[in-house]
Amino acid sequence: MARSLNILQFLFLATGSLTHSVTVAPNPVTGNTTTSTISWTDCSPDPSIALKCANFSIPLDWSKPWGPQINLGIGMIPAANASQRIGYLMTNPGGPGGADIQANGKGDLGLTVTGQYWRSSQLHQYFDIVGPDPRGVASSSPLECDPDLWTTASQTSLFPEDEESYNELVNAWKAAGESCAEKSGERLNHVDTLSVARDFEAIRIALGDEPMTFLGFSYGTQVGLQYAELFPNDIRAMVLDAVLDHTQEEVYMLETESGGYEDTLDQFFLWCARNSSCAFHNTTDFPTKFDNYITAANQNPIPAPQCSNASFDFYPCASTASGYDILTFLQELLIVNRPDNGLGVPGLADMSLLLQLAFEGNDASFFATANTTSPISSDYPYTAVICQDWHHQSLSWPEFQTEMIFANIISPHTRGQGEFWRLQVRCMNWPAPVVNPAHSIAPTFQNLTLKTPVLLVNAFYDPETAYPFSVNLQRQFGERNAVLLSRNGSGHTSWYSMGDTHFAINNYLIDLKVPQPATILQS
Ligand SMILES: *[C@@H]1O[C@H](CO)[C@@H](O)[C@H](O)[C@H]1NC(C)=O
Ligand SMILES: *[C@@H]1O[C@H](CO)[C@@H](O)[C@H](O)[C@H]1NC(C)=O
Ligand SMILES: *[C@@H]1O[C@H](CO)[C@@H](O)[C@H](O)[C@H]1NC(C)=O
Ligand SMILES: *[C@@H]1O[C@H](CO)[C@@H](O)[C@H](O)[C@H]1NC(C)=O
Ligand SMILES: *[C@@H]1O[C@H](CO)[C@@H](O)[C@H](O)[C@H]1NC(C)=O
Ligand SMILES: *[C@@H]1O[C@H](CO)[C@@H](O)[C@H](O)[C@H]1NC(C)=O
Ligand SMILES: *[C@@H]1O[C@H](CO)[C@@H](O)[C@H](O)[C@H]1NC(C)=O
Ligand SMILES: *[C@@H]1O[C@H](CO)[C@@H](O)[C@H](O)[C@H]1NC(C)=O
Ligand SMILES: *[C@@H]1O[C@H](CO)[C@@H](O)[C@H](O)[C@H]1NC(C)=O
Repeated sequence: MARSLNILQFLFLATGSLTHSVTVAPNPVTGNTTTSTISWTDCSPDPSIALKCANFSIPLDWSKPWGPQINLGIGMIPAANASQRIGYLMTNPGGPGGADIQANGKGDLGLTVTGQYWRSSQLHQYFDIVGPDPRGVASSSPLECDPDLWTTASQTSLFPEDEESYNELVNAWKAAGESCAEKSGERLNHVDTLSVARDFEAIRIALGDEPMTFLGFSYGTQVGLQYAELFPNDIRAMVLDAVLDHTQEEVYMLETESGGYEDTLDQFFLWCARNSSCAFHNTTDFPTKFDNYITAANQNPIPAPQCSNASFDFYPCASTASGYDILTFLQELLIVNRPDNGLGVPGLADMSLLLQLAFEGNDASFFATANTTSPISSDYPYTAVICQDWHHQSLSWPEFQTEMIFANIISPHTRGQGEFWRLQVRCMNWPAPVVNPAHSIAPTFQNLTLKTPVLLVNAFYDPETAYPFSVNLQRQFGERNAVLLSRNGSGHTSWYSMGDTHFAINNYLIDLKVPQPATILQS
């Protein structure tokens, strides 16, 4: 779900919060427009490449379209060849909290940074690629919270050993959440994905009312899913790559994600046994040794000496890392296997060296939790969106203990560590209402037929959005309305892997060539 989240958030450069444009004139989403009412200006950091930006005003609360407005920043890479332009392709890079234009120079997924992917892709020949920063994120009226309270909460163990530590964890997140309500005001109550989907529709209409072509990654698949529920008749084509299933309650999300992470780590162990570029290639029974190292690091956290080195990429960060901290970052490192991915993820071989440095070199700096320093960190909307999009139980200490026990049964190497594990704790006392809870989409799609079925894409071994999420959503859409394309491999998202799946996605978006149901590709 959160693509490279911590890498993204560690490197996020604070640019100060924007003044919010509160305009009186509304942008009612009614009537047809034939030409774009959005005016673009050049905003490329590199004059040799075309990147355009615009500001766009939308209602803070879609139930009050003439109420207060907020600003959205939108980025756009114009089609390379106007004579074969098909239309706009709207995209979201994931997160929640991922930005498309206010990118940070490294490890982010926006149009500016992974722009190399877009520009070298066939899609660039046919589409104007449009990426709004979603509401609450980066250039779009970003949420603000107290960075120090956030750091304290993030550096409190998510796997407490007694009731006192559990209460400390829950209270630290309560205080962090309350700081968001205080600093962000009403904005905190309106970052749910239903509102984001309406924002995308408003942009589509303002751009000239062409039918929607959409490519969403990770959390971006939920944006697409909710758009499809609201505006099924406006879709030309939609790809959901690395599928987040917003039809399941939190506990199922947590368990399923945990299983996906465990299966992907098992693939890494198999790769290590086979491939001499793994630092643990000669280690007999590496999986058991891995477990022992994690347990030992939970008992005696490993020093993180680089965290006090101001030149270190992730400075400032915690002075030690526990086994659970290592598991947190390992999940993110497993999102792409190849080193040349351009996403700021080192690839499997370098990942094994980082583990070796931690386990055998007594230096876990890379895995230590970073301090949150930005007043508009992407971690704030990451949390705030999920807190408004799922129901959250306030668990008693005995209930939480039970959950830790079953996490170890389901995922013995990864022990339940994962995004929904941390989000359930963050959201327990979140001071904004759950306005967009998980729900079945089957009734909505039962009696309608999309012009082109949605293309769902997932790797069998995905450490974040587990494969069963995509299987379940395909069933809920029904066979008329969605086709599942599976990639027989590891990683989170498939378009970036540049194999056959990448080209199948392009063919679908460009020529509306829909793969056969249940197609499996090997790369
Ligand atoms: C808007 O466009 C649709 C489809 O092109 C058309 O059926 C409808 O009459 C138009 N509405 C207006 C107000 O022009
Ligand atoms: C959008 O608004 C912000 C804040 O007023 C401004 O700094 C930025 O230049 C604007 N961007 C565009 C593309 O107009
Ligand atoms: C643009 O597309 C047209 C139509 O497909 C083609 O004839 C032309 O060669 C393309 N131009 C470039 C620069 O790719
Ligand atoms: C070992 O893994 C690397 C990195 O994934 C890959 O490039 C290489 O082809 C693999 N070698 C073998 C023999 O499988
Ligand atoms: C594994 O052992 C072989 C043979 O002793 C050696 O050449 C190789 O460098 C070792 N690989 C690692 C990763 O230690
Ligand atoms: C501090 O970090 C920089 C950048 O990673 C590195 O080059 C340097 O060697 C580090 N200094 C120490 C004392 O480890
Ligand atoms: C990072 O956070 C820790 C824990 O709150 C704190 O003790 C430390 O001073 C912070 N480091 C910096 C450089 O802000
Ligand atoms: C879909 O159609 C069936 C059969 O006509 C009907 O029973 C059902 O209520 C409809 N569902 C919705 C959500 O309209
Ligand atoms: C997936 O790949 C593995 C390893 O290459 C192969 O053994 C297996 O048959 C493949 N499975 C499918 C369903 O394609």
